[in-house]
Amino acid sequence: MLRRGILWLSEQQRIHDFVRSHGLARRFATRFVAGETADAAIEAARTLASGGITASLDLLGESVTDRAAARAARDQILALLDQMEDEATIETNVSVKPSQMGLDLDADLCRAHFRDLLDRVRSLKGFLRLDMEGATHTQRTLDLFTGHLQPEYGDHVGVVIQSALRRSSDDVDRLLALGARVRLCKGAYREASDIAFPDKRDVDRQYVALMERLLREGNYPAIATHDEAIIAHAQRCVAREGIAPDRFEFQMLHGVRRDLQNRLRASGYRVRVYIPFGTHWYPYLMRRLAERPANIAFILGNVIREGLSAP
Ligand code: FDA
Repeated sequence: MLRRGILWLSEQQRIHDFVRSHGLARRFATRFVAGETADAAIEAARTLASGGITASLDLLGESVTDRAAARAARDQILALLDQMEDEATIETNVSVKPSQMGLDLDADLCRAHFRDLLDRVRSLKGFLRLDMEGATHTQRTLDLFTGHLQPEYGDHVGVVIQSALRRSSDDVDRLLALGARVRLCKGAYREASDIAFPDKRDVDRQYVALMERLLREGNYPAIATHDEAIIAHAQRCVAREGIAPDRFEFQMLHGVRRDLQNRLRASGYRVRVYIPFGTHWYPYLMRRLAERPANIAFILGNVIREGLSAP
């Protein structure tokens, strides 16, 4: 109930504008967002790299409503790729939301923007992941990926599957047959119960089933979760099946379970951290709060403590 309420708030544009203009809310965001600039994200990636952890950078922004905003986001990501090229210790790896590239405005425009990005990513021998958004985007994102981008750019591009969706088992079948690069996550959006499992236990059950298939048959799958029980299950699965640690990677979010990220890396697993940055942090922050409402108390506590100790 609380989760659905917070997710509803994440979709409200008027609240978005109000919250973004507030210094206090900006302080809330710093736990999950590297900063508002590409430099801040690159600095976070450098720090991770020094501990053997890789990163995927995400310019925050979604659901753009005009063509100029989609073009501006593409240009910002192209500039980010240029910056990443100059970094000796950072892999060129970005995550991009299709609605930020204009998917809701014009599918051809969106495809053209992704081609611009992927031409550059391929020339840098890098990788671009299409993030998966709410269920109204699922089919269009998969069509864009399987019908155009994956055939043209192969292993330089990947997509995301959400175990919360009832359809995901069929989608994984299709993606496995194509040899596609898949990131598996639980799903961060508010969905209707006819298309998504309302009970978290079903979401977790489907996660484990899809994860086992991706680990066994997939093309370098990304196991994106902070769920320790599921991660332990993955570790048992790869040990049992003799799957080498360089055939998959664990992925986690910036600011979430750094202890677990380091522990997995120290045990010899590959770990990549998703680093969001930019000024459009409100919906992202709200999804992180919805995943763990205890974060609200945690963040409020920090802010109050800082406020009380301020001169
Ligand atoms: P779950 O929510 O069950 O949490 C397990 C444990 O992890 C919690 O008990 C807590 O300890 C910790 N935890 C989880 N979330 C936390 C938080 N916000 N703050 C503090 N602790 C937290 N979703 C999507 O719909 N489309 C996408 O493209 C992506 N992409 C993506 C990339 C990467 C690298 C990750 C890690 C996640 C995503 N997600 C996503 C988000 C994903 O769908 C999911 O909402 C979150 O990962 C939380 O789910 P968990 O699997 O961690 O499990």
